[in-house]
Amino acid sequence: MIDQATVSRIMEAANIADIVGEFVTLRKRGVNYVACCPFHDEKTPSFSVSPSKGIFKCFGCGKAGNAASFLMEHERLSYVDALKYIAKKYGIPVEEKELTPEQIRLNNDRESMMVVSAYASKFFIDALHHSEEGKAIGMSYFKERGFTKTVVEKFQLGYSPAKRSSFSDAAIAAGYKSEFLERTGLSIKRDDGALFDRFAGRVIFPVISLSGRVIAFGGRTLQTDKKTAKYINSPESDIYQKRNNLYGLFLAKQAISKTDKCYLVEGYTDVISMYQAGIENVVASSGTSLTEEQIKLIKRFTQNVTVLFDGDAAGIKASLRGIDMLLSQGMNIKVALLPDGEDPDSFARKNNAEQFHSFLDTAEQDFLSFKIKLLLGEAKNDPLKKAEVVHEVVRSIAVIPDRITRSIYAAECSKALEVEEGVLLAEIANIRKEKLTAEKVETNRERELSEPPEASPVIPSFVSNIFCNDQEKELLMYVLKHGREELFKDVDQEGTEQIIHVDEYIIQDLVNDKLELQNLQYRRIFEEYYREMSKYNPQENSAESPELILLKYFINHEDPAVASTAANLLTDPLMQGSGIYEISKIWNAHAEVEINMAKAVLKAIATYKLKIVGMARHKLSERIKEEVNESEELLKNFSELNEQYKLLAAYLERVVC
Ligand code: CTP
Ligand code: MN
Repeated sequence: MIDQATVSRIMEAANIADIVGEFVTLRKRGVNYVACCPFHDEKTPSFSVSPSKGIFKCFGCGKAGNAASFLMEHERLSYVDALKYIAKKYGIPVEEKELTPEQIRLNNDRESMMVVSAYASKFFIDALHHSEEGKAIGMSYFKERGFTKTVVEKFQLGYSPAKRSSFSDAAIAAGYKSEFLERTGLSIKRDDGALFDRFAGRVIFPVISLSGRVIAFGGRTLQTDKKTAKYINSPESDIYQKRNNLYGLFLAKQAISKTDKCYLVEGYTDVISMYQAGIENVVASSGTSLTEEQIKLIKRFTQNVTVLFDGDAAGIKASLRGIDMLLSQGMNIKVALLPDGEDPDSFARKNNAEQFHSFLDTAEQDFLSFKIKLLLGEAKNDPLKKAEVVHEVVRSIAVIPDRITRSIYAAECSKALEVEEGVLLAEIANIRKEKLTAEKVETNRERELSEPPEASPVIPSFVSNIFCNDQEKELLMYVLKHGREELFKDVDQEGTEQIIHVDEYIIQDLVNDKLELQNLQYRRIFEEYYREMSKYNPQENSAESPELILLKYFINHEDPAVASTAANLLTDPLMQGSGIYEISKIWNAHAEVEINMAKAVLKAIATYKLKIVGMARHKLSERIKEEVNESEELLKNFSELNEQYKLLAAYLERVVC
């Protein structure tokens, strides 16, 4: 935690042009700077940085924000890390909440382990490039595999000499403690107390964390006999948990963001070969089945994952379940099946970059359609087997969080499997109900999140709509910028779990209160948003988020007045600064503050109503003063408004604070 005063100092010190300029080549244009946008592909620059306002914005893709949000977006830092980054640059001391001695010790230990790992990585690289043994054995192996010098360097590949204690001896001589050599697994202590090297005689693939530090290693043997394990990996440690890491992510993250897509492969060499072929948005699960943590990592950069399968059916069937997990995280999954006997690595070597690209574009297919085809192919005309297929596919559909996506799949599946859609939907509802009941038993926090909160009090029907621009604007911004984000889980009459999105919640609440936005531009955008939203088909447009598609729709609107209102909304300080933009960033980064989005939305709605009721009350009191005869009805209305005002204020306090 960084205290607010320090946050302000940091943000005041930040020169946005300096910070953005570290990652993007800026050209001066008038008082501002321009560049080609780092967040989307473009040839003419529409990305602009304003040092005086302290903001950047892209007129092409709509991304905008301040120095901290730039770092969060571009470097995928958390809010706190972005602040620390700026603080370091400008020499501002950051005092964080005090740590316990235990925490300090663990932090120090972790740091020591990272330092040892960095040393080891250098040692292995050095051995590969400069020792006779490394050149003759390690480097020629990489060459033989067709790795270029560039990727060998990019991936920081290395070689661990065959002599059993080369590395350990060098590390000890360089002053590293054996404790940390052991705790990282780089060295293993023999019974007689001597250290020997875990990776001796192997070529080295370092595992690099998201922030760019070496945290573990994979070592591949050069022997071809079956007895030696092909790979040996660093054990789990205080700095490395397999389930939290994806091989190649550090080098791929930029490309994943930019292309809004991630290729998922199995092995180290698959990643490297594809990268070399120019497909840089690729990561590997490193031979194990995908974990939830790994999926969340990918989700920080994109929702779109394409899994590459080697062309053997056994492997594919084994992986199907793992992919269900991707579905349950709301990811858009495609699969591409490589030709028989090929893996991404061998395929990349036999084809040039262009061929590989066009292969991916044509081979890629929707995961569920693929699964249906695969399973149906096996079941042929056996009715029992076919029933199994139906169950299996329904189970996959049931894990998808988004209701609309589920129903689209159900329709498709009904056609492909020749089963009535209603039957499928009922089965899906059943599975979801069971799952929901099971989840109820889970932790408190999750329960709190999964239940919709108390709705704000309804305002009296005699209140007519009142013009309050700022509040209307805020509501509209939530809809435009965060509309498709999930807000709550609700259960409908049939017991089917439903995800309520930000836009649905806001629209529903306004409808309940018979409120209409009074700013006509806003109202028009609001209404068109809803119309466009219901036309939106996640299937067709899976490469882009619905928010982005809709934002583009408004920014390029045929009516220039709408386009300009939309552009202004998007560059409004409220949307950047420390307002909702920040909240949403934090919301994306850390599930534990998810509740903040709910609070922010409830607060925006309640504030809007409070404003309306407050203004209505004021107007009415003026009227009562002017009225010659005391009107029973006006007085009654006044006291009702007064009551309602208090209820709303109390609600705001209760729900939002
Ligand atoms: N793997 C492992 N230990 C093994 C075998 C495999 O940790 N004994 C992991 C590695 O991360 C490896 C991945 O599983 O990269 C995929 O295995 P495989 O396809 O067998 O290896 P490749 O990376 O393709 O290596 P190569 O092309 O050199 O055979
Ligand atoms: Mn391989």
